[in-house]
Amino acid sequence: NAPVEEEFWLFGYGSLIWKPPPHFDRRIPGWVTGYVRRFWQVRTYHRGTPTAPGRVVTLISRSYWSTLSDPHPSPPDDKVWGVAYRIEPAHVASVKEYLDIREINGYTIHYTPFHPASELHPGETKKEGPIKTLVYIGTPENDQFVGPQDPQELAEHIYRSRGPSGLNRDYLWGLERSLDELSPESGDEHVRDLAERVRGVAAREEGKGEGEREV
Ligand code: BEZ
Repeated sequence: NAPVEEEFWLFGYGSLIWKPPPHFDRRIPGWVTGYVRRFWQVRTYHRGTPTAPGRVVTLISRSYWSTLSDPHPSPPDDKVWGVAYRIEPAHVASVKEYLDIREINGYTIHYTPFHPASELHPGETKKEGPIKTLVYIGTPENDQFVGPQDPQELAEHIYRSRGPSGLNRDYLWGLERSLDELSPESGDEHVRDLAERVRGVAAREEGKGEGEREV
């Protein structure tokens, strides 16, 4: 008998939430546990350049995170919200290759249970899940992992960074909006705080511009 291909599911907690991978046939909002999401990963392409790298999110395992001194408090519950994508069986190999090229740079692969947030559909008697998903995480061994950041300095840095994919602040605000759209519970305090700080920096910088024009 030919071996049965295991299903391949991918957990997205950053831009994958609003920019899906190719060849997926299911997309489910939900969460994983045992990790903390932080803007602690350098991005030298997409949202930054080699000389002025931007910042993107990574997941840090809670056990490692609890040894660090993080100015942002512990999230109130142990859930990191995002979406799980199921990749069509015929395309698993090519999608894995695509993801390795596009995303593995600077991340480590973990497999972790994903909990679908979906309500019961008509005819279903029990909720689906958990589902084994692949997730990219940051560890201190990854060159692009930067570790704890002062939130205001990080916000100023994000405000200033841009790369071929656009402004770093659009990535941050896109993530905030995408998380809000997943569920009433899916907001992330770290993302929200940074998004508000960057709005403050933008208001200050744009205000300066107006002041200069008036002179
Ligand atoms: C994401 O968008 O969820 C993501 C993709 C690759 C690495 C880390 C996060």
